Amino acid sequence: MLKREFDCGRLRPEHVGGQVTVGGWVHRRRDHGGLVFVDLRDRYGITQVVFDPGSGPGAHGLAGDLRAEWVILVRGEVRLRPPGTANPNLATGAIEVLAQELEVVNASQTPPFAIDDQVEAGPALRMRHRYLDLRRPGQRAVLELRHRIVKLMRDFLDERGFLEIETPLLIKSTPEGARDFVVPSRLHPGQFYALPQSPQQMKQLLMIAGLDKYFQIAKCFRDEDPRADRSVEFTQLDIEMAFVDREDVIGLVESLYCQIATALAPDRSFAEPFPRLDYYDCLDRFGTDAPDLRIDLEICDISDLAADSGFRAFTGALGEGGRVRALRIPGCASLTRRQLDEWIELARSRGARGVVWLADRETGYWGPLAKTVPAELLASIAERLDLGPGDLAGIVADRDPVANAALDGLRVAAGKHLGMLDRGRLEFCWVTGFPLLEATADGFTFSHNPFCGMPAGTEPLLESDPASAPSLQYDLVCNGWEMGGGSIRIHDADLQRKVFGLLGYSPDQIEANFGPMLRAFDFGAPPHGGIATGIDRLVMLLSDNDSIRDVVAFPKTQDGIDLAQSAPGAISTGQLAELGLRLGARNAGS
Ligand code: AMO
Repeated sequence: MLKREFDCGRLRPEHVGGQVTVGGWVHRRRDHGGLVFVDLRDRYGITQVVFDPGSGPGAHGLAGDLRAEWVILVRGEVRLRPPGTANPNLATGAIEVLAQELEVVNASQTPPFAIDDQVEAGPALRMRHRYLDLRRPGQRAVLELRHRIVKLMRDFLDERGFLEIETPLLIKSTPEGARDFVVPSRLHPGQFYALPQSPQQMKQLLMIAGLDKYFQIAKCFRDEDPRADRSVEFTQLDIEMAFVDREDVIGLVESLYCQIATALAPDRSFAEPFPRLDYYDCLDRFGTDAPDLRIDLEICDISDLAADSGFRAFTGALGEGGRVRALRIPGCASLTRRQLDEWIELARSRGARGVVWLADRETGYWGPLAKTVPAELLASIAERLDLGPGDLAGIVADRDPVANAALDGLRVAAGKHLGMLDRGRLEFCWVTGFPLLEATADGFTFSHNPFCGMPAGTEPLLESDPASAPSLQYDLVCNGWEMGGGSIRIHDADLQRKVFGLLGYSPDQIEANFGPMLRAFDFGAPPHGGIATGIDRLVMLLSDNDSIRDVVAFPKTQDGIDLAQSAPGAISTGQLAELGLRLGARNAGS
């Protein structure tokens, strides 16, 4: 077999006259009279090969049979393309290889979609034939970007004295707010490992071990319903440091992300330092704790004015402990009914009863308030909202969680409509000031994770008013995505036990789930904290993809199926018996 000497992106005029062997996939074949032209493609580019009966009769004889995606090796001479036929769009466009020998390594069936970024193919087809999809330059570029990002992360942290330490995948569960994937143990029938939702407890143990600067490119597994930006299996840059405060962690990660943006997204702008937002302020202004700051629209509270409006939807919501808040959408006073209805539907899908529109049109104020609310009050509302001629306001009256969700949706939709989602801008920010706990119907859950610490001196609130206990959590947000989250941790066993108790764990459950970690706290636990940032989300952001599917080599479908490998799949009764497992009647036959 011939041996490849040059990839398909390498040859230049300086190679003219040389004998070379090139190899790759047949991208395109054209027959021109007696000559056959083949565009030979690989990861590096495309090289034109010419088969001429005069120079290589054997090779020319075979070339007529070549089809798309066949793998071939060609030996021949590099020559300049004839005048007027050079291709300036191709790095190898000045030369061609005049074939003397052709070896067909492997034929290919006709691919189910063309290997071309311009050709649309359904996601299922692309996933099933991911090895073909990845031959497309756009898909390949994403994996290259991912590699660059991870390499930069590793180099950056290595230069600062961090150690990359692997932690096991078969572990005892660490709660991160999702369901665990579990793995049955053959050696211990009836016992199960969990796949890590994150290496949280292990990285804290590494701090207690004195390995004070840890990182890992960590695979995490969470059995939750996938969304475009959420997958059951994903990768984090996981970091933990000892003897640090919040500013140390934030400073490190901010500097890393600035380096990544500068090196790998040179065409995008970002502001340094990243702005800091307070969690509650963020919800008030944007309706979410992961705001897209490219959207220059803010929510405004008009509850005090609405209280006097006599408008039933407003007074009703206020009576139920809600607020009346509005979003001014400039220049949209005359949108079509259809567009407005679409936005109402969006707000409804997020639980709101509706959106009350108020527009400043040429003919005067328009909307249900215009007829019912006294002119003076209407003018005050318009003034508060900064509603000028041609502007529209969407008003939502509801309890905060519902109104936040609705106004967040409306803000993003309006921002999109107004063309504010400029891909050239990376609007990073840090969100801090999260509460430690969130109230649920029957107690509390954690806001970040159960290990999150509290500002010194606030611990008594755990007894007196747990709902108002502040935390040392911080989130990194960019363009509306939560890119990362972390905290300074609790490093005191008693305080950690108290928090577990508030989260509803019984002493037995605390011992069963966290006993080893709590005991480690009794052997000299340094103050420590860290963060994990989502690598998939960062690649999505920098590669303009809006689905995790497009930024991993072998993605899963929305319902967690790996179409390339047909996983999950059944296992044999023998394997089940070995594991001491028996399927219930519902699943036994499937
Ligand atoms: P958290 O759960 O906030 O924190 O996760 C950190 C970051 O990981 C990314 N991420 C995801 N990406 C894709 N699919 C998912 N299902 C998914 N879930 C999370 C997000 C998120 O901001 N152990 C803590 C970190 C710490 O405290 O140090 C943790 O995992 O970008």
